[in-house]
Parts: sequence; C-alpha cells; structure tokens
Amino acid sequence: MEDKEFTAFVVRENNGAWEGTREARKISELPPGQVLIRVSYSSVNYKDALSASGNRGVTRHYPHTPGIDAAGIVEESGSDRFHAGDEVIVTGYDLGMNTDGGWGQYIRVPDSWPVRRPAGMTLRDAMIYGTAGFTAALSVRKLIRYGIQPEDGQILVTGATGGVGSLALSILHKLGYHTAAVTGKGAARDMLKHLGAEEVVLREDAVDETGKALLTPLWAAAVDTVGGAVLETALKTVRYGGCVTACGNVAGYRLETTVYPFILRGISLLGIDSVQCPMDEREELWQLLAGPWRPYTFAENTEEITPETLPENIDRILHGKVTGRILVCME
Ligand SMILES: NC(=O)c1ccc[n+]([C@@H]2O[C@H](COP(=O)([O-])OP(=O)(O)OC[C@H]3O[C@@H](n4cnc5c(N)ncnc54)[C@H](OP(=O)(O)O)[C@@H]3O)[C@@H](O)[C@H]2O)c1
Repeated sequence: MEDKEFTAFVVRENNGAWEGTREARKISELPPGQVLIRVSYSSVNYKDALSASGNRGVTRHYPHTPGIDAAGIVEESGSDRFHAGDEVIVTGYDLGMNTDGGWGQYIRVPDSWPVRRPAGMTLRDAMIYGTAGFTAALSVRKLIRYGIQPEDGQILVTGATGGVGSLALSILHKLGYHTAAVTGKGAARDMLKHLGAEEVVLREDAVDETGKALLTPLWAAAVDTVGGAVLETALKTVRYGGCVTACGNVAGYRLETTVYPFILRGISLLGIDSVQCPMDEREELWQLLAGPWRPYTFAENTEEITPETLPENIDRILHGKVTGRILVCME
C-alpha cells in the first residue's frame, strides 16, 4: 500500500509548554500493529485533556497524538480477527496515551484492542459513549453485580454533568433506578433532571466539613467519578450494606477516610478500570450499550466538533466547564 498522508492533531512540547496543531503525517510513521483503521469519530475525555497538556502520568513522550477513543473502518489487517471494511471501536489499552490516538485520521493497533461495532449502534453513537459511556456502564454493572436494585433507594452520581457522570445517570434512569446527582454547576439542574436525576445536590453540599467519620445514611449506593473529598463524603453517607464505585480523580487522587464506613456499615469501595477491562466483558458491555441500556436521552448533551477546535475544548474540559460529551468528527 502506498504511504498515504493524513492529518493528525499533534501535541508538542515547547519550552515547558504544550501546544497542539493539525499536522500532516504518514501511515509509515504510525506505531506497529496488525490493524490499520481509518478513524471516523473520536471524542474528548478528561484524560485526553491531560495528555494534550503535558501530564506525564498519561503521556510520557511528545510529540504525541492524543485520543483515547476511536471508531472507524479497518483499512488493512494482518490478522484473521479483522478484515478490510470491518467497523470497529477502540477504547482503552494504550490508545492515545503513548500510542498515537483517535485525534488522527488513522490509527494502527494490535488486533487484541478493537471491538466490532455492535448492531444497532453507529460509529458516531459509539463515540458519543466513548470511554466515558463504557466506564459509566462498567460502574453500573458493578452496582448490579453487587446486588443493588432499584427498590433499594437512591444512587448518588457525582461529577454528574461530566461524560461518565451524565451517562451513568442516564443508564441508571433507563434501568429504573432512582438517582441523586452531585454537580458543581447550579445552572445544570434542569438538564440533570431531564437525564433522570430525581434530586440535584450542589457540590458544596456534598462535601462534608464536619470531619465526622460517618454521617446520616442517605444513599443505597454511589457512582463516584471525581474522587477526593466528594468520594470521602459519599463513603460516609451510603447506607448499611451499600457500595461506592470509584473511577476518577478530578477532585483529587488522595482518599482520606476511616475504617468506619467499612466496619460499621459494611460498605464496599469498588474500583473501576476501563483501560485493561478484559475483551469478553468489553464486548458484552458494548452490546448492552447498543441495546437494552441505551438511555432515553442518548445523544442529548453531546456537542460535535471538528479537530480545528480541539485546543479550546481541551481547555474547557480541564476547567470542568463541559457539560456532557464532546464528539470529534474526523471524516
Ligand atoms: N477508571 C477509568 O477507567 C476511567 C475511565 C474514564 C474516566 N475516568 C476518570 O473519571 C473522571 C471523569 O471523567 P470524564 O471523562 O467524565 O470527565 P469530564 O467529562 O471532564 O467530567 C468531570 C466532571 O467532574 C466534575 N468536576 C470537575 N472538576 C471538579 C472538582 N475539582 N471537584 C469535583 N468535581 C469536579 C464536573 O462535573 P460537575 O460540574 O457536574 O460536578 C465535570 O464535568 C476523570 O477523572 C477521568 O480521568 C476514569
């Protein structure tokens, strides 16, 4: 195959500052892998913004093309698992971290990374969910497997206007759960109610300042997407026998707690990782997202952008200003 040229958003370090621009690249410059994919859509996640702004915990080496999400069409495959023309989704693993990601028109990845697009879901739909929707689904499934049922009471969802939070709220609503949403954006109250939140709690009221080890029990369980003091408070306010899933760290990576929620209320803290999630579970969750778990409000609260506006959107997400999902059209 000729060494095609394509366009990618490339982040470079310049005297301690990181700047991304669209550049011409060649297929031969992509990392090795069995599957070459022409990317139709990507998205913007908090982790992409960290990669694009020089966070070495996410991306060690620059120049680099971020984009932890990609959905597109296989153009060339050296593997029996995929053939030219297959429509696939790639999220997690090393995509967009230290492997060139979905903010380029082409990616090349190992054949163990892509998931076949499930029936009933377009490539565009897949990137409306992206890693955020997949992580929301992982969190909801953990609650269900733990045994939390709709009649048990309200589920607290934190970072509720964010990608993971808004999709977790919407999926829980579709599955008949009652939810309370924690947000830093007072103006988003109506939007959160529309996604299915029965109650909206302002972030300042969801952070305990008394220092007590336990507070009045309120929630059957919690889906935490932010970490820090919000997660600490969730652990103090979940009812006896409940659980809290933890996937994020935008409010802080430290967790200061006591053993009391665990030994006096029997609460469990359940970790969520979308990056190394095993393939059989990935395929199953994408099937659920394409069908029975697809929220009534799917695709609302999604902005579609072109790669030209990535720099301002990176800034918005880093400053917690985004509501819902940002979809990037790469076609
Ligand atoms: N473990 C995994 O596999 C996995 C996968 C995906 C994402 N994540 C992590 O999950 C988190 C959420 O990801 P995302 O893509 O949903 O991000 P996002 O779209 O940027 O949403 C994050 C939301 O958190 C809230 N927030 C922002 N700054 C905050 C602060 N200082 N304190 C408390 N809340 C704050 C905001 O919502 P409100 O204004 O409504 O409060 C914001 O919209 C990130 O930390 C991300 O890295 C982890």
